[in-house]
Amino acid sequence: MSKAVFPGTFDPPTNGHLDIIGRASAAFGEVIVAAGVNQSKSRLFDLDERIAMLTELAEPYPNVRIGTFDGLLVDYCRTEGAGLIVKGLRSAADYDYELQMAQLNHAMTGVDTMFLPTRSENAFISSSWVKEIARLGGDVAAFVPPRVHVRLLEKL
Ligand code: PNS
Repeated sequence: MSKAVFPGTFDPPTNGHLDIIGRASAAFGEVIVAAGVNQSKSRLFDLDERIAMLTELAEPYPNVRIGTFDGLLVDYCRTEGAGLIVKGLRSAADYDYELQMAQLNHAMTGVDTMFLPTRSENAFISSSWVKEIARLGGDVAAFVPPRVHVRLLEKL
């Protein structure tokens, strides 16, 4: 049974992330959704909040658990005994960026990456835009899971 890591910032998790969690759960024996601790982006939700949201979203999937990592993703994969990284791909721009990371991660440690094409209904959704729209008073209910939407409204 293969063990895969689905890494991200998840600030906040979106419908696109939820879709990848469900499909990765079906495709792999075990999935660790790993929230990055120390990336340089500005955060709306702190790590505990992001873990709480991801834990709620992963509830229906018994083979999915939530983890956190700080430092190199490949080191986290090695610690967890996971030989695969899974990522969603929305666009050619994502592909160019993700391909380089996938190749670097493989060159460093042999950890491979599998890409799942984002469903078309989620292809234009990103956490960054969701945050900006919500901050400016726009309605993001269609872009995030309901429980994330509630937390966004509370936060803003
Ligand atoms: O949701 P995001 O912000 O697109 O996630 C990006 C993330 C966290 C997956 C990526 O930045 C990452 O893997 N960071 C860990 C640091 C690392 O391993 N850097 C070298 C990549 S080749």
